[in-house]
Amino acid sequence: MNVRLGEGNTPLVPSVTTPGVWFKLESCNPSGSYKDRFVAGEIERMLAIGAKACVATSSGNTGSALAAGAARYGLRSSIVVNEFAPAGKLAQMQAHGARVIRVPGFTVDAALTREVMETLALLAQEEGLPLVVSAYRYCPVGMARVERLGEEVVAALPGARIFVPVGGGGLATAVVRGVAGRAAVTAVQPAGCDTVVTTLASGAGVRPVTSTTRISGLAVPFDIDAGQAVEELRNSGGMAITVEDDEVFEAQRVMLRDEGIYAEPAGAAAFAGALKQLRHGHSAVPRPMVCLVTGHGFKDPDSIAGRISTSEERVDASRLRVVLLGTERVL
Ligand SMILES: Cc1ncc(COP(=O)(O)O)c(C=O)c1O
Repeated sequence: MNVRLGEGNTPLVPSVTTPGVWFKLESCNPSGSYKDRFVAGEIERMLAIGAKACVATSSGNTGSALAAGAARYGLRSSIVVNEFAPAGKLAQMQAHGARVIRVPGFTVDAALTREVMETLALLAQEEGLPLVVSAYRYCPVGMARVERLGEEVVAALPGARIFVPVGGGGLATAVVRGVAGRAAVTAVQPAGCDTVVTTLASGAGVRPVTSTTRISGLAVPFDIDAGQAVEELRNSGGMAITVEDDEVFEAQRVMLRDEGIYAEPAGAAAFAGALKQLRHGHSAVPRPMVCLVTGHGFKDPDSIAGRISTSEERVDASRLRVVLLGTERVL
């Protein structure tokens, strides 16, 4: 069956603050992140084998995309999340009827995370249940659908440099494969969880790190697809850079206040990377810079309300005119 969630063909808009920069609005996918592309492929796979239910792990976005897709195609889903999955993403999963199971320490403690993954892999095998994890290591069929994201960018802007936020490394792997040499890729990773960046620089194998980043979705401190991403980046002449969390929050603020783009922090990480490159004098590079806005701001309202000053005024209807015009006549 050809599964259609309404994913893909997302808008590509130029920045109004930074010449040469473009935003690929993956936040416009139906559940608000690029994971809808992945889930479309996974649901197709599940329907082909006659599955009725699945188990999944998620930092939030895979879960919300899966819950929506599973609801649409009559599948049951149980989703294992960590302590930090943001409220908006959990609300999406629950609204679509998924079973949400929080496991303390998951994705934080490397040994505990391995134990959870082994338990799920064994259970999936014994019960014949699909295990949905947005990584090539577990779900190559779904990840192959994410490669279209890279194809869409090169079709619109051949020769671009694409900035990709990195957690586990699957998305970066997919984008490099999708562009197939027709664009350059820069992986952008939080300095507090820099598995891909250090491995690309050192040439050694991927070492687990203790993650300190607060960017939901990018805190994957062990090798899921990191090794794969490093290999793809190395073979394609790609780059990998780190950004501090505060640089990501500042990029998110610029997107909100000056670009009119409502992104969750992970969706602003690519722009943080592009701004950093420009600050470091890479602006002379004569190619468009495309930042993947991978997730919507609606998913993580606390990341916005907590950091960006918002104010609300309350007035009686009778005073509205006088308040709007004010003493300084701002309108
Ligand atoms: C919004 C967002 N951006 C980027 C990523 C990173 O993708 P990957 O873990 O494949 O590197 C994720 C992963 O969950 C995400 O949710």
